[in-house]
Amino acid sequence: MTGQHNWTSAPAGPIRGDITVPGDKSISHRAVMLAALAEGSSRISGFLEGEDTRSTAAIFASLGVAIDAPSPSQRIVHGVGLHGLKVPSRDLDCGNSGTGMRLLAGLLAGQGFDTTLTGDESLSRRPMRRVIDPLSIMGAMIEAEEGGLPPLRIRGGRALHGIAYSPPVASAQIKSAVLLAGLYANGETEVREAHPTRDYTERMLAAFGWPIAFSAGYARLSGGHRLRAIDVHVPADLSSAAFLIVAATLAPGSELILRAVGLNPRRTGLLHVLRAMGADIREENRREQGGEIVADLIVRHAVLHGIEVPLEHVPDMIDEFPILFVAAAAAKGTTTIRGAAELRVKESDRIATMGAGLRALGISIEETPDGAIIEGGRFEGGEVESQGDHRVAMSFAVAGSIAGNPIRIADCANVATSFPGFLALAESTGVVVTPDLR
Ligand code: S3P
Repeated sequence: MTGQHNWTSAPAGPIRGDITVPGDKSISHRAVMLAALAEGSSRISGFLEGEDTRSTAAIFASLGVAIDAPSPSQRIVHGVGLHGLKVPSRDLDCGNSGTGMRLLAGLLAGQGFDTTLTGDESLSRRPMRRVIDPLSIMGAMIEAEEGGLPPLRIRGGRALHGIAYSPPVASAQIKSAVLLAGLYANGETEVREAHPTRDYTERMLAAFGWPIAFSAGYARLSGGHRLRAIDVHVPADLSSAAFLIVAATLAPGSELILRAVGLNPRRTGLLHVLRAMGADIREENRREQGGEIVADLIVRHAVLHGIEVPLEHVPDMIDEFPILFVAAAAAKGTTTIRGAAELRVKESDRIATMGAGLRALGISIEETPDGAIIEGGRFEGGEVESQGDHRVAMSFAVAGSIAGNPIRIADCANVATSFPGFLALAESTGVVVTPDLR
C-alpha cells in the first residue's frame, strides 16, 4: 500500500460552506447504458467522474459506442440502437462496481455475441448468483467461478423470454438486471419486490421512450421496443452528501449547505433516521430536475440520540450504513440496526469493517448477523482499516473530525470510485483530512 492511499483525519472545528457534491452514481451508470442502446445522441450532464461510472463508459466504448467528453461531468453518447453493440476485442472490466457488473450481466445476456465481465479484487468476491439465477430462467447462459463469483462469461445469441420474478433480497441491481434483459426478451418481464428499491432503471427507461408500467415494488415491460436519445441531468449523489451531512451534524457550530441533492424517496432513508435521532436538516428549493426531485439541504449541528432504526428505511439507506454507524457512535445512548444483512456483501463486509474500526477507536459495538448494536461514546483516535471500501474510508474521515486524537485510515484509494475530489471538498468545509505521505 503506498503512503498516499492512507489518510489521517484530525480533530476539526465547525463544518461550514456551500457545496455541490458529485453526480449520482446509480443514475450515471444507467444513463450511459440506456444512452448507448438508444437511437441518436444523448447528452449527460452532472455525470459522475468516478472510477465506477468511468469503467461503465469505457466498457461501452469497447462495445463500439462513441462517447465524447466535451468537459468534466459531461458526456455525449452516440447511441447505436438496441442491436448495434459490437463484439469487444477484450474482457470488459467493471473495476470495483457491483452495479456495473450486475446491470451489464442483464444487458449483455441479450446480445448476439459472447462477453466476459471482470472486476477488481473486491468485486471478484461479490455474489453474482443473484443475477445469474433469474437471467438463466430467462434463457441466458452465464458461467461464473465457484460460488457464483466473477468473472462472468456470458454466452451470446440466446433467445431470452420474459419472466415474473420476485428477488429474494431487496436489490435494485437484481431488478435492473432482469429488466435490462427484458428489453431483449420475448414477452413480458415483471419484477415484484417485497421491499421497494430505487427505481432509476424504470424511470429512465420511460424517459428514453420504452413502454413500462411501474410503481413502488413493481415493474413490468415487454421486449421489442426502441429507446430514443434524450438529455439526462444527473442530480448530486445523496450517498456522497451523506458524509458531509453527518460531519456537519456532529461538529459543534456547523452550518453546511449542499446544493441540488437528489431526493428520490427510495434513497432518503438516512435523512429520516438522522432526523429521528435529532438532526437539524432542512430542505429548500425543492424542485424537479430531469425527472428527479432535488433540493438544497441546510444542515446545522445537533446533538443526536440513539434509536432503533426502523426496518422500513433499511433498503432506502443501504449505502449509508457506514456513516450511520459513525453517527450512532457519536450519539447519546444505544442505536440498534437490524435487517441489514446485505451489508455483509458490499464492497467489504461493512458490519465487520465498521465494527473493527469503531472498536479500535474506543466505541462499544456488538455485531449481529444482520446489523449491530452501537453504544454512543467518544472517538479516541487511533488506526483503522477501510478494507479498500470507499464508504468506510470516508466514514472514518468524518469520525476524525470529532475525535479526541487523529485517526489514521488505511487503504483509501477506492474513494475515487464514487466520490472523486472528496479530500478537497471535505477540506473546503473544515474537515482536516490529509493523505499520509509517510
Ligand atoms: C445500486 C443498488 C444498491 C446499492 C448500490 C447501487 C444501484 O445495491 O447498494 O450502491 O445503482 O442499483 P443492491 O442492489 O445490491 O442493494
